[in-house]
Amino acid sequence: MLAYRHAFHAGNHADVLKHVVLTLVLRHMNIKPKPYRLIDTHAGAGGYSLEGVHAQKKGEYLNGVARLWDRDDLPPAVSDYLAQVRQFNPGKRLEQYPGSPAFAQMLLRPQDQLRLFELHPTDHRILDAYLGTSPSVQVKDTDGFDGLKGQVPPDSRRAVVLMDPSYEGTGDYGRVIASLRDAIDRFPLGVYLVWYPQVSKLEAAQLPRRLESLAPKGWLHARLTVQQPDAQGFGLAGSGVFVINPPHTLHAEMLTVLPYLTEVLAQYAGAAYLLDHKAV
Ligand SMILES: C[S@@+](CC[C@H](N)C(=O)[O-])C[C@H]1O[C@@H](n2cnc3c(N)ncnc32)[C@H](O)[C@@H]1O
Repeated sequence: MLAYRHAFHAGNHADVLKHVVLTLVLRHMNIKPKPYRLIDTHAGAGGYSLEGVHAQKKGEYLNGVARLWDRDDLPPAVSDYLAQVRQFNPGKRLEQYPGSPAFAQMLLRPQDQLRLFELHPTDHRILDAYLGTSPSVQVKDTDGFDGLKGQVPPDSRRAVVLMDPSYEGTGDYGRVIASLRDAIDRFPLGVYLVWYPQVSKLEAAQLPRRLESLAPKGWLHARLTVQQPDAQGFGLAGSGVFVINPPHTLHAEMLTVLPYLTEVLAQYAGAAYLLDHKAV
């Protein structure tokens, strides 16, 4: 039984970090004309209304993408990300937020392939209605951890994997490692992007180290802390993105992105970022 619905969280600080990195990675992939496959193992609904009851319940986007909307001092990478969000909003107001499949739809070229996995029946139905008829897209209602192995390597030998689970139980942490180990064995050259929440759980704290051990050829770890956990230690303090085989330009780009996002998205004086990497 899946309880998580991304519609409650769309456009929050964690989405901003994840989608800025996704945009940077796809822009880099687009430099070469050779096609690639993007596999989004936990795709969500594809796009979200920010005026609907879900997003309005806690208004998380107000402390995320909405803080960037009217800024005139965006670093280039954040500006490029926000240009995609604007493209998804035909009017001048921020009314909708693109999920990772929508970013992919806007950034992939006609020669590229998109593979989307989404288990929640409602979100799968919305996603399928949105992208299911596009010739280069496949929308699957099966398990993304299990489905990844059938997707790598693609014929073109170029692929990006976005793994963005809901971490509803503790089981997802172990499944991230197991499915990535298997995929990297099959396709060591892929670019693997994993999002994780900064919460008070041992599994979450240990995940980056476990991911490092899967990535002997190079990795990048970016974490953005914006909020103080509550007195019991609960709440999403921030989030991290771990990239295995990152583009060589990503570290320099994140050096401009992270201080800016820390300043603009901070919800308390202890807001901070971490940027660490091992070059190939
Ligand atoms: C954090 S959300 C995804 C957000 C999306 N990647 C984005 O950036 O817009 C995680 C999604 O994974 C789905 N999900 C949970 N477990 C899954 C699994 N094992 N396989 C595929 N989808 C799953 C949930 O229903 C939820 O929609």
